[in-house]
Order: sequence, then C-alpha cells, then structure tokens
Amino acid sequence: MSPTPTTAPPRRRGAPARRLLDTIAGPHGIDRYLEQINPTFVIGECRAEVVAVEHGTEDSVTLALRPNRAWRGLRAGQFVQVSVEIDGVRHSRCYSPASPQDCGRELEITVKRHPGGLVSNFLADHARPGMVLGLSQADGDFHLPDSRPDSILLIGAGSGITPLTAILRTLCAEGHAGQTALIQYAPDPDRAIYRQELDHLAAENPNFKLTRSYTQAPGAGELDGHFSPTHLPQADPCFAAAETFACGPPALLDAVRGTWANGLEHRLHVESFVPPGLLPAGEPGTGSIRFADSGLEVRNSGASILEQAEKAGVPAQSGCRMGICHTCTCRKLSGTVKNLLTEEVSAAPDEEIQLCISAPLSDLVIDL
Ligand SMILES: Cc1cc2nc3c(=O)[nH]c(=O)nc-3n(C[C@H](O)[C@H](O)[C@H](O)COP(=O)(O)OP(=O)(O)OC[C@H]3O[C@@H](n4cnc5c(N)ncnc54)[C@H](O)[C@@H]3O)c2cc1C
Ligand code: FES
Repeated sequence: MSPTPTTAPPRRRGAPARRLLDTIAGPHGIDRYLEQINPTFVIGECRAEVVAVEHGTEDSVTLALRPNRAWRGLRAGQFVQVSVEIDGVRHSRCYSPASPQDCGRELEITVKRHPGGLVSNFLADHARPGMVLGLSQADGDFHLPDSRPDSILLIGAGSGITPLTAILRTLCAEGHAGQTALIQYAPDPDRAIYRQELDHLAAENPNFKLTRSYTQAPGAGELDGHFSPTHLPQADPCFAAAETFACGPPALLDAVRGTWANGLEHRLHVESFVPPGLLPAGEPGTGSIRFADSGLEVRNSGASILEQAEKAGVPAQSGCRMGICHTCTCRKLSGTVKNLLTEEVSAAPDEEIQLCISAPLSDLVIDL
C-alpha cells in the first residue's frame, strides 16, 4: 500500500455567475425561484437531501445525505451544522460526518439520541428520504492532518466514534501504509455504533488494529471497563509515538488528557461534543439586556446571553452552543460581558461577541 497525497476541500467556484443570475432574477435572487422546483437546487446556500435512513443501533440513526452543489466538502474528522425546522422554529446542531474525506456528493451523519434532546430525537423519529436539511460548510480543527502520520491511535466512545470513523475510512480508502489502532468504548455490543463496519475494516486492513471495551458487558471485548492507561499497551504498543485523536464524553477525554499530560500533549487531539463546564455567569439581576431590533428589554437572569435571548423569544442563531462554531456571533453595542470559558471581561463598545459563551455584567445593548 502506498501513501496517497491528500487534497483539501475544493474551493468555491461560480460566484460571479451566481451574482449575474441574481441580478437577472430580480430582488429576491435566483434561489427563491430554484427552491420552488426543488429545495436543494439553491446555489447560494448549503442544503442536503436525506437519501437513506438506517437505525444501526437502538439509540442512533444514520442518515445518508446528498448535499447540493454549494457544499465544498470536508476534511476527515470535521463537523457540519445541520438545521431542521421543528414546529416552525429552525434549530441547528453540530454533527461530525462519518464519511471519508473523498466522499464526493454523499455525506453520512450518525445521530445518537439524547434523553430529552430536541434535534437528536426529532431526526431519529422523523428523518425520511426526501427530507431537506440545512447544512453548513465543514469546520473545525479536529481532522486528519494533510500529511498523514505514520502511526495513528484513535480513541472513541458513544457517538464520538463518528469523526474517528471518517478518519479511519479515509486512511483505509487511501491504502495508508502506516499503523492505525482504534479503541472503541461502548456499553455493550448492541450499542457499539458502526460495529459491523469497523469489524469489516479490521478484517480487510492488516495494518489497522481494533480493540473494544464494553463497559456494561465485561468479557465481551478484548478490554474491560472505562478508559485506563493500562489499556494502551494491549491496544497499541507504540501509543507514545502515535498521533492520537480522542472523541467521547467528558470523563473519557479528561482521563485521556491526564494520561497524555506527561510530555505527550503535542501528539493528542481531542474533540468534545458537549459544552465544557462553563464558569458561573453574571449575578442574577445585575443589569438588563436590550435587544436593539425589537427594543425588547429583559432583566439579566445570569444565564448566557443566548439562553436569555431564546427565553425572551428573540430569534438568535446558534449551533454548537459551546463557543466553537461562531454561529451565534453578534454585535454588542454597549455594556460589559464576561466570557464564560476564559473569564475575560470586556466593556468595549461595538464588539463582536459569541452569545452562547457570554454573560452580562452590566446593562447591555445587543444588535439583535
Ligand atoms: C463538534 C461537534 C460534533 C458533534 N457530532 C455529533 C455526532 O456526530 N453525533 C451525535 O450524535 N452528536 C454529535 N454532537 C452533539 C450534537 O450537536 C447535539 O448536541 C446532540 O445531538 C444533542 O442535541 P439535542 O438537540 O438532541 O439536545 P438538546 O435539546 O440540545 O439538549 C438536551 C439535553 O441534553 C444535553 N446534551 C446536549 N448535547 C449533549 C451531548 N452531546 N451529550 C450529552 N448531553 C447532551 C443538554 O445539556 C440538555 O440537557 C456534536 C457536537 C459537537 C459540538
Ligand atoms: S453557538 Fe457555536 S459559538 Fe455560539
């Protein structure tokens, strides 16, 4: 097998042609006409049609999507934002496609149900072929490097297996000559997402080693229990030299970070699907927030500005809700805010802030 040079997602083309079409089409632009024919025909906005739905485990759903031509592809491991309308309100969530990097016009996401979760349960219950979803361009720093490492270790649990599957499928499709190891954690074999696909890849690719631990079914995998440094020598004897990618619940990522903290940090890449523990927000009742467009004013409850806008019925855009996608970025016209991740305080006027990780410390005016 020979290593294959890799390509970054293609650059956007056709912008001048689109501007011309928009001019000819008049004030509403060409997309408002095209979407009457088919919602995915729009050229200025990414959308994807669901082409297949598979319930691979009892608590997850895998959707094969066909993005329209506005979508520019992905690097294996990156995420996209998927938007769906539920009861007349549009909601966006991040999902890491499991598709290989060179996936052409087919994209696959696997969504695990969250108890009480809005979008995950909606997609698991209602996604059907023909449904059209909003889609963002791929984003994120958690991806396979363009220059493929010789040795790669993947550690994943739950739905965190999705970006790792994208990486693995990419390496296998390229005939990557180096060694790749994957440790998958799942409660039991029935709830191990992509179990059969991963078994198949391990059987077909001699330089890929798959090791599993079923945390609620001791003895069913090669390892037992939650992540422990003692798992590493068996799963990947060369783990210290491997470029390592880990994705899963916070407890797994904390344990992995702790293990790599002894000088190996530079080889570790982690992705979390859940917001980090945000710092305490502003004191409830400290000041008020005025939303400039509507003139609506609310007493500061102490929550993030995004949550307070949503509670007040102000239409705020959001995606990851943890400070990584920038969908919620908005202009603060005046007032002081605290960044709930870094604790940084800023009083600068006319400043762009991320509403999901900002809390008021004084009277605020938000350009929303
Ligand atoms: C970069 C990135 C990539 C992601 N990729 C995937 C993916 O490939 N597959 C996938 O299934 N999910 C993925 N997620 C998680 C996904 O974006 C949603 O958070 C998840 O589907 C829950 O959304 P919901 O609308 O059902 O729940 P919400 O209605 O938003 O939340 C309901 C409850 O669940 C809690 N909650 C929200 N998200 C999580 C979570 N991830 N884990 C535990 N509790 C949670 C909330 O705190 C809340 O109490 C990813 C998240 C990020 C940031
Ligand atoms: S919603 Fe993603 S950064 Fe705020």
